[in-house]
Amino acid sequence: MSTTTVPHPPPPPPQPAKDSNRNTAAMKSLPPSVFTLPQTAQLEALYTIIRDKNTSRGDFLFYSDRIIRLLVEEGLNHLPVVDKTVETPTGATYHGVGFEGKICGVSILRAGEAMEAGLREVCRSVRIGKILIQRDEETTLPKLFYSKFPPDIASRYVLLLDPMLATGGSAMKAVEVLMEQGVPEERIIFINLIASPEGLSTFCSKYPSLKVITGWIDQGLNEKAYIIPGLGDFGERRQVVP
Ligand code: URA
Repeated sequence: MSTTTVPHPPPPPPQPAKDSNRNTAAMKSLPPSVFTLPQTAQLEALYTIIRDKNTSRGDFLFYSDRIIRLLVEEGLNHLPVVDKTVETPTGATYHGVGFEGKICGVSILRAGEAMEAGLREVCRSVRIGKILIQRDEETTLPKLFYSKFPPDIASRYVLLLDPMLATGGSAMKAVEVLMEQGVPEERIIFINLIASPEGLSTFCSKYPSLKVITGWIDQGLNEKAYIIPGLGDFGERRQVVP
């Protein structure tokens, strides 16, 4: 008896890696104060890993840290510089630049704390403040519960750290608190992994001269104010499960 072998269909061709613009729909008509990371295939691959519900905690930490590092580096690109001349070991003179002022980080607790290590890796011995904002049960508005800042924060550029910009309520309250400390709006750079279009629009309308560096702009929010498609609860995904 003769047997026939059914040939396997050929595997689908790999997708060509594009250098940019893999998230064009979400990036149309962004406010001028919003800067995204280059939307490359590599970046999308990192986001695909951290969005996957089956990704282990170890991989979630590793790959979200990689994105955080890219975001911090991009944030630093927006700091002003001044001319600086140095002499190199060859005896030549090099006319370069140096950062104009001092910086500090401020993390919005608790999820923002996860971004502190990424900032420290790039800026050694950087000062870091903290803000805890929670919903006031009576008014339902974001309320400041705790804050701690470097004493000279008013004279520093502030990198404000929060991974998920959902409704924008906590981030806006955090900026209000920083401005009460004397930090001008234009000296704050908000660094964020994933933003919802509605949160971004509310935030940028209230603080148009504050720069936002985000890795990815998602589709929107669900009824529980989670970002969709998002990655779930960022803090929970980094936590050790007891
Ligand atoms: N915070 C999170 O951790 N995830 C969201 O989707 C929104 C806010």
